[in-house]
Amino acid sequence: MKNLARRNIRNLVAYKSGKPINEVKRELGLKRVIKLASNESPLISFRVKNAIKRSISEINRYPEGSCFYLRQKLSKKFGLKPGNFVFGNGSDELIDVIIKTFVEQDEEIITSKISFLEYEIVAKINARRVITVPLKSFKYDLKAIKQKITAKTKVIFIANPNNPTGTYVNAGEVREFLTGLPANVIVVFDEAYNEFVDAPDFPDTFCYLNKKNVIILRTFSKVYGMAGLRIGYAVAEECLTKFMERVRPPFNVNSIAQASAAAALSDTGHVSAARKITLAQKKYLYDALDRLGVAYIPSAANFILIKVAKNTVTVFREMLRYGVIVRDMEQYGLNNYIRVTIGKPGENRKFIEVFKKLL
Ligand SMILES: Cc1ncc(COP(=O)(O)O)c(C=O)c1O
Repeated sequence: MKNLARRNIRNLVAYKSGKPINEVKRELGLKRVIKLASNESPLISFRVKNAIKRSISEINRYPEGSCFYLRQKLSKKFGLKPGNFVFGNGSDELIDVIIKTFVEQDEEIITSKISFLEYEIVAKINARRVITVPLKSFKYDLKAIKQKITAKTKVIFIANPNNPTGTYVNAGEVREFLTGLPANVIVVFDEAYNEFVDAPDFPDTFCYLNKKNVIILRTFSKVYGMAGLRIGYAVAEECLTKFMERVRPPFNVNSIAQASAAAALSDTGHVSAARKITLAQKKYLYDALDRLGVAYIPSAANFILIKVAKNTVTVFREMLRYGVIVRDMEQYGLNNYIRVTIGKPGENRKFIEVFKKLL
């Protein structure tokens, strides 16, 4: 039976997600465990909690496949048409929808070598070829990516800010990159962390929607604090979204997630609080790391890539024993770095306390 799976699935290395809190509690017999491993928000919106309570009475029904109310809300928020949006079970699912909708069997995908791993994994699951381009000073090298474009290139994935480095490409770099791209190439800007960005030169990719072949990915998993509900969306011209809608599985976004996302959009106070606490805590972590003489990559997102003297998996395991879950960077090939999500003040203090002991 072991040979029944498709060849590329037999050789596939699956996405390794951050270790769940309950798993660590079970395995190590710990009572208190903090997770700073999956770039989640430390806060939950009260409006979202209330929306969940209200939507429970409808869980015997299938959800509205079109995400009608959420679609209306988002189109109002961005001044776009309802047809400009496609919803997914997390933006993860939309990566799959994009590849299935647009990339023919003999066409190629380009992304960076050290970036969100799902682009490569999902491409491989779909038996599509991926070209990965090295980062330059931990940043997407858009000039090098442009040079790799051939007649076979169909989709380019750009995580901005990038995960796991936290670096971003700026408005000027994006403008230059999009100038003169071949007409058959689609550029996907994955902006999962955009709400955390505090840089004035961060690009406004929405201005390219009706000028270039651009798809923007956004998620409710990060600043909105809804990672457990699984909902994200793509924004693009209707001539692109109408085909994505044919590929998207029916009822892919559950009714609780839809109601919660609509509530989350109304809770602007929660978004600004989550952003504010993250920016203040980023400064706390930078200062603490500076005092310890530890190097890190300045981040535009809600996580920091930190240099470690030992192997990444060793540090991950050692921190686990103290009930602190960070992300080892082995799967990204960054064996001397760990990635730490910015948590609540007490969680960040605990991280520094434990990290100090292990130096
Ligand atoms: C760059 C990037 N894109 C997408 C995602 C997935 O987000 P979602 O929870 O919406 O599937 C992540 C999650 O960590 C991410 O880092």
